[in-house]
Amino acid sequence: MTAVILDGRALAKTIAEEIANEVAEFKQERSFAPAIAVLRVGEDPASVSYAKMIRRSFEKAEMEFELHALPETAGEGELLALVTDLNADEDVHGIMIQEPLPQGIRPEVIIEAMSPDKDVDGVHPANAGRLAQVAPAGRPPGVSGYFVPATPAGGMEILRRHAVELKGKRAVVVGRSNIVGKPMALLLLRENATVTICHSRTVNLDAVCREADILCAGAGRAQMIKGDWIKPGAVVIDFGFNRLGDKWVGDVDFEAAKEVAGMITPVPGGTGSMTNVMLMKNVLEAARRQMAR
Ligand SMILES: NC(=O)c1ccc[n+]([C@@H]2O[C@H](COP(=O)([O-])OP(=O)(O)OC[C@H]3O[C@@H](n4cnc5c(N)ncnc54)[C@H](OP(=O)(O)O)[C@@H]3O)[C@@H](O)[C@H]2O)c1
Repeated sequence: MTAVILDGRALAKTIAEEIANEVAEFKQERSFAPAIAVLRVGEDPASVSYAKMIRRSFEKAEMEFELHALPETAGEGELLALVTDLNADEDVHGIMIQEPLPQGIRPEVIIEAMSPDKDVDGVHPANAGRLAQVAPAGRPPGVSGYFVPATPAGGMEILRRHAVELKGKRAVVVGRSNIVGKPMALLLLRENATVTICHSRTVNLDAVCREADILCAGAGRAQMIKGDWIKPGAVVIDFGFNRLGDKWVGDVDFEAAKEVAGMITPVPGGTGSMTNVMLMKNVLEAARRQMAR
């Protein structure tokens, strides 16, 4: 079998166009655009290039982008004051705090200072908690609005747009971070999959992976998941983004896996391409919610 390649890049382009249309409508109604403020302390190269990528995609969709880049020497108090200002600023609908933060700044203190209504990265405990509490699909919501981290939201969107049935399916998520594995597991659970979460202490990881109809990898270990760990016909969503020699690879050994899987995301060009557009979607949604109040 040769798997269907789930082209996240093409899908992200389609979604970016959809968002640009929705933004144009929003602007017509409101005469301003949804806006994100990105906060950074220091010049971590990955954060710098991620912020540039966010700026490019926001500007293309005619959404507002502002960067607050504080010097490496900035303290927790300075960053907290900035977050407080942005919480109160009606022209800012979404806030994203880039990590890593320098030593001496406690990420949890900064994150918890952010208004959950503007936490478009879905990292505030109120948003994570609401995702954990949310009712399964088809039941009354029972939980107020929340934001989901963009990367797992992108993985779910790939599954949804390819009409992958999740109800009753066995899903395995490798990785339990707060921005990838855990929210992905909760989102799959919300869609009525039966979910197993694996991590670095999981015993017989290969055997657990082999049980998966839907296998999601977010471990950050280059090509750790081998072709013979995959159940024939499984859908594989690879969040991994790892440097191997001179190229970027996922957590899944793509060449071997695509001969076994039914569908698979490539790296690059799979889940990574989706993250940005899901962040844009969250900012548009934040602006709508704030206006509805
Ligand atoms: N597509 C995107 O846009 C996007 C966005 C964010 C991240 N990523 C990529 O996704 C990957 C994960 O990122 P992250 O931020 O979630 O990483 P992380 O915080 O380092 O978490 C990695 C998780 O994988 C688990 N793990 C590590 N080694 C393992 C092993 N040998 N067997 C089983 N589980 C193992 C860890 O287990 P423990 O909890 O036991 O330590 C942890 O839960 C990275 O490659 C990252 O670059 C992609």
